[in-house]
Amino acid sequence: MIQLFHVYKTFGSKNSALIDVSLRVRKGEFVFITGPSGAGKTTLLKIVFCAEKATSGQALVDGRNLNRVSERELALLRRRIGVVFQDFKLLPRRTVFENVALALEIAGLPLSVIRKKVHQTLRYLGLANKEGYYPPQLSGGEQQRVALGRAIINNPLILLADEPTGNLDPDLTMEIMALLREIHVKGTTVVVATHSQELLRDTRRRIVSLSKGRIV
Ligand SMILES: Nc1ncnc2c1ncn2[C@@H]1O[C@H](COP(=O)(O)OP(=O)(O)OP(=O)(O)O)[C@@H](O)[C@H]1O
Ligand SMILES: [Mg+2]
Repeated sequence: MIQLFHVYKTFGSKNSALIDVSLRVRKGEFVFITGPSGAGKTTLLKIVFCAEKATSGQALVDGRNLNRVSERELALLRRRIGVVFQDFKLLPRRTVFENVALALEIAGLPLSVIRKKVHQTLRYLGLANKEGYYPPQLSGGEQQRVALGRAIINNPLILLADEPTGNLDPDLTMEIMALLREIHVKGTTVVVATHSQELLRDTRRRIVSLSKGRIV
């Protein structure tokens, strides 16, 4: 589903965020990417989502070579990838409903379908009674669930989650992890970046460790 071949990403002249990273994530896999702050986790996810371009090397996502896809193909591919990013915040002046509906609106679905799917997703996330709230009126865990709802509403092929439990207490962390597991069970390929050792301690999942831009 995701294949990276000798990917390098350099910012400016000497800031190497990724160095010779090769990685293969199969369809339906659940993988953790870990490593200390600055190791390159977010950069790796951004390359998969085509929010950043590799400086050299190749990245294939769902069989498409990201160096060669057209703008149109890229837009279609991105619609099939759900993302929960550290710096992709919820829109504060839009309600929970509107935040979650966004991807479906962009896809141009009719309003009746959008309503049904958003209600379904909010129920699933335990947020049915919050659809009219604005993000600042929600707790951290609720906001995180809304972000997750926005990412999964399209039944994405791939879910990329960057520190999805950052700043959450242990109970909420478990809750978000349980949701990620369920999404995975339904067939989505899940990649979670985290520096939390807590999250990794009891897992049997594959863990890819980055250190200073290299896989170790
Ligand atoms: N847009 C950018 N411009 C310049 N340098 C960048 C940019 N994005 C990332 N970097 C650099 O790339 C390196 C890796 O950053 P990245 O955000 O991928 O780390 P990370 O593993 O996600 O860290 P954290 O755990 O703190 O989120 C860092 O040294 C960072 O300064
Ligand atoms: Mg990061």
